[in-house]
Amino acid sequence: MKKILIATQKPFAPIAVSQMKEIADAKGYAFEVFEKYAEQADLVNAVADCDAMIIRSDKATKEVIEAAKNLKVIVRAGAGYDNIDTEAATANNVVAMNTPGQNSNAVAELALGMMVYMARNGYNGTSGVELRGKKIGIHAYGNVGKYVATIAKGFGMEVFAFDPYVSDEAMQADGVTPVSSVDELYSTCNYVSLHIPANDQTKKSINFDLLNKLPKGGILVNTARKEVIDEDGMLKLMDARPDFKYISDIAPDSAHVFEEKYEGRFFFTPKKMGAQTSEANINAGIAGVNQIIAYFENGDETFKVNK
Ligand code: 3PG
Repeated sequence: MKKILIATQKPFAPIAVSQMKEIADAKGYAFEVFEKYAEQADLVNAVADCDAMIIRSDKATKEVIEAAKNLKVIVRAGAGYDNIDTEAATANNVVAMNTPGQNSNAVAELALGMMVYMARNGYNGTSGVELRGKKIGIHAYGNVGKYVATIAKGFGMEVFAFDPYVSDEAMQADGVTPVSSVDELYSTCNYVSLHIPANDQTKKSINFDLLNKLPKGGILVNTARKEVIDEDGMLKLMDARPDFKYISDIAPDSAHVFEEKYEGRFFFTPKKMGAQTSEANINAGIAGVNQIIAYFENGDETFKVNK
C-alpha cells in the first residue's frame, strides 16, 4: 500500500484533512498526517517511508528529498513552489507539482481585507479613507491577481495590471486596464498588490527606485513572498517618504525596525494567513490528493513544476 504523507507545519483545517483522507482511503492509499512540527529535522525524520507528500510552505530541501527514500511525487498544496528544491527533486526522480488556483480567492480576500484595515487606520477610531475611486495596480495578473481585480472592482476601485505573459485583450475583457511597464504601474496607482513568484529574476526586484514611483500616500500590499522585496530599499523609502505604507501577509526580516520606527504605517499578519481558510485548504488539499493518485494510476503529470 502506497503512503501519502501530509507534512504541514501550519495545519490544514480538520475538515480538509478528513475529506483528503476519505479520498485516499477509497483509493487504497495509506494516509498519514504530520503537522505542527517544531524543527526541520523533525520533517527530515518523518518522510522516511512515504511514497508521496503534500506540503504547504514547508521546506522540501535536498536533505528532506534525499531522506524520503520511497518518494515519487511531492505536491505543494498551493501556488508558489519556491520552497521545493526542484533540482534535488529531479535528481532523485521525484515529480514536484503545485495546485495552481486552488487557494487564490482566499489570498485575494486577505489582500483587500488588509487594505480596508489600513485605510481605516487599524480601526483606531480616527477618520480613515475609502477604497472607492482609488487606483489599484496588480503586479502579475495570475490566479490571485484576477480575484483581486474582481473584488477591487466591487469596492469601486479603478484596476490596472502589469503582466508580460497576459494579453491586453484578456485584461480588458475583465475590465482591467493593462499598462506596459512596472514603472507605469507603480507611478499610476495608489495601491500596488504584488502577485509575482519568488525566483532568481524577481528576488529583491521591488526596490527603492520602483517604490518611490508610487504617488503620494502610496501603499504596497504583499501577499506574495517577502523575498521579492529589497528590504534595505524599502527601509530607505520608509525614511524618505513618511506618506508610504506597507502591508504584508509575510513579516519582513526587518519587522523589528518597522515596529521601532514606523508606527501606523505598516501591518503584518502574525503568521502567513492568505491561504488559511477552510475552503482554500479543502480545494488545495483535495487537488493534491487527486493529483498524487492520478500520477500513480495514470502517470498524469499535469501540474509538474520540475524539469
Ligand atoms: C501559496 O503559494 O499557495 C501561498 O503562499 C500559500 O501558502 P501556505 O500554504 O503556506 O498558506
